Amino acid sequence: MTVAKREKIQQHYDEIAEVYDLHYDHPRGRTYHTRISRHVMEALPRGGALLDIGCGTGLFVEKYLHHGGSAVGIDLSRNMIERARRRCSCCGFTLGTGESLPFRDNSFDAVASLLVFSYVRDPESMLNEAYRVMRPGGAISICTLGKKLLTSGIPVLYKVSEKIRIPHVVMKDFGEHYYDEEDMRALFSRAGFCNVKVSWCSFAHIDMGDPLFNLAQRMEPFIERRIPQLTYNICVDAQKPAE
Ligand SMILES: C[S@@+](CC[C@H](N)C(=O)[O-])C[C@H]1O[C@@H](n2cnc3c(N)ncnc32)[C@H](O)[C@@H]1O
Repeated sequence: MTVAKREKIQQHYDEIAEVYDLHYDHPRGRTYHTRISRHVMEALPRGGALLDIGCGTGLFVEKYLHHGGSAVGIDLSRNMIERARRRCSCCGFTLGTGESLPFRDNSFDAVASLLVFSYVRDPESMLNEAYRVMRPGGAISICTLGKKLLTSGIPVLYKVSEKIRIPHVVMKDFGEHYYDEEDMRALFSRAGFCNVKVSWCSFAHIDMGDPLFNLAQRMEPFIERRIPQLTYNICVDAQKPAE
């Protein structure tokens, strides 16, 4: 991904920051975000110090704080960060990129990143940085669009929708990159993480109408377990080896 694409992502999220939460404020959006947050949360120690990379408006930080502990978020977009500060005034939020974290070595017990990794220009650097800032024995958990049947058409769809200007919160050509299980295992292992676990989630999509969404959501646990080819988010959990 080029610098121009990163600037495009930043500009896009600056522009939509005021309406981003509307996306997750209706029942379908809430259900979707709660579900992926649960996947990420389950792999993290509760009550420790969390870093959320690409924290957006602080939706996950807020959920993590319910279990006690503290949290810090970093994001490319100034306006998303502003929203996060308003949501969780007790937390620190920093403008910056996941590939170059302005934090000391061994400062966090947990690192999370939701719906961000596919945008990241240099995933190796982001994982090396996540590893560096985590304490030994700490855990990382990410959830992002993965390389699967349902996502294979997305780059073309985004290019077309941008050309013909379909208004949609996220439908733009950002040069996103999708990873499969093998890619993720290799990336996380190369960064030094151990106990790398990969799973797939999400079949119901918030752009489906209510009846279809409700049906898809009921089928979701079965699809995730038995037909993961039909899911579209990949979740990766791993640990920094204890010393
Ligand atoms: C789809 S939003 C997800 C926000 C939040 N994690 C959530 O679950 O609602 C993607 C976010 O990632 C941020 N982002 C994209 N690339 C990034 C990078 N390289 N470093 C930090 N943040 C990034 C964007 O600015 C945006 O706020």
